[in-house]
Amino acid sequence: MAQRFILNEVSYFGAGSRNELPEVINRMGFKKALVCSDKGLIKVGTTKMVTDVLDGINFPYEIYSEIRPNPTVTNVQEGVAAFKKSGADCIIAIGGGSSMDTAKGIGIVCNNPEFADVVSLEGVAPTKKKSVPIIALPTTAGTGAEVTINYVIIDEKRQAKMVCVDPNDIPAVAIIDPELMYSLPKGLTAATGMDALTHAIEGYITKGAWVMSDMYELQAIKMIAENLPIAVEQPTNPVGREAMALAQYIAAQAFSNVGLGLVHGMAHPMGSLHDIPHGVANAILLPTIMAFNMPKCIEKFGVIARTMGVDTTGMSKEQAAQAAVDAVRALSIRVGIPQHLSELNITEKDIPALAAQAIADVCTPGNPRDVTEAEIVELYKSIL
Ligand SMILES: NC(=O)c1ccc[n+]([C@@H]2O[C@H](COP(=O)([O-])OP(=O)(O)OC[C@H]3O[C@@H](n4cnc5c(N)ncnc54)[C@H](O)[C@@H]3O)[C@@H](O)[C@H]2O)c1
Ligand SMILES: [Fe+2]
Repeated sequence: MAQRFILNEVSYFGAGSRNELPEVINRMGFKKALVCSDKGLIKVGTTKMVTDVLDGINFPYEIYSEIRPNPTVTNVQEGVAAFKKSGADCIIAIGGGSSMDTAKGIGIVCNNPEFADVVSLEGVAPTKKKSVPIIALPTTAGTGAEVTINYVIIDEKRQAKMVCVDPNDIPAVAIIDPELMYSLPKGLTAATGMDALTHAIEGYITKGAWVMSDMYELQAIKMIAENLPIAVEQPTNPVGREAMALAQYIAAQAFSNVGLGLVHGMAHPMGSLHDIPHGVANAILLPTIMAFNMPKCIEKFGVIARTMGVDTTGMSKEQAAQAAVDAVRALSIRVGIPQHLSELNITEKDIPALAAQAIADVCTPGNPRDVTEAEIVELYKSIL
């Protein structure tokens, strides 16, 4: 079977790279944009850092900001109506995974109206047309949604996260400007950074991993291990912010093409049923699920340990693999992530519903070790 790799048409990197927008708009011949961004980002002024550039060239746009963290079908459908009403010919997404994923849903439905219910887009939907062109500017160093072929939307009726996988949704242009990330508070910097680490680790050990994806994921693991503590502890230090902006993109380039695993499969229901921020859910689960996967990943975990800076000289393969789990847990604790579900008000009675969604999640089959629903119940219980 052939390997497939899908990336943006063009991407820009570096402090101030949002100033490339006029050149992009001119080259692509756009006349008006729908800006997708959430209310929190508008409040802190991060959205304005980008719309100022649009104002500088008198480029018309309208803002759609009815986007909640862990966005919903309603957010997408209202966005579709806003796009149609605006007369725009492109979407500029400014935000974290929630704004970018909502933009993808809007762009896909506008050009594939037979999926207007949104719920029929779950999984791998047979859309025929590319999304409305999206220019994506991430403001979190986490999801990498600006370069992935996935978007995650909550179906309110089922209270479940739908992972939609569709090459037609990938943003045409990604602009990774770390200056948009300085306003991220400490807790969100930590959580979104741990999401990026989870992408890199799950993308490295997933069943579909191969030499090309490994190359990206190992580089991302190294950069995140070195720089996430700097971004969290010294939020104004450009070293941490710039490296994390790049690392989360590098991780996503690969995982988007090879898949994830059980951490994401178990994190998604925590988002849909308990509204836990995506990065926090992943971070709590990651070391425990790594320990579960260890028998299938002894060699690769040794590589992860060394990539994270652990000296494994003199260790057995098993000890080196355990060192990777320990290094991830230590990083999670250092950046202040909660370690137990009870800290998030999740109790034992919530676990069956979580496990039922986790076993059905699109990400779960990519896990290197096959898992049953009963095992998922035990895994959640072990971190209560
Ligand atoms: N498409 C993908 O490939 C993919 C991958 C992983 C996760 N996701 C999805 O992405 C969503 C999570 O995205 P996220 O973790 O980036 O967070 P988010 O977009 O949900 O944002 C979380 C909060 O952070 C705030 N925020 C974002 N950037 C900020 C900044 N620079 N300054 C101040 N506040 C800021 C937002 O206003 C919001 O309140 C989840 O729904 C998750 O399932 C998608
Ligand atoms: Fe994620």
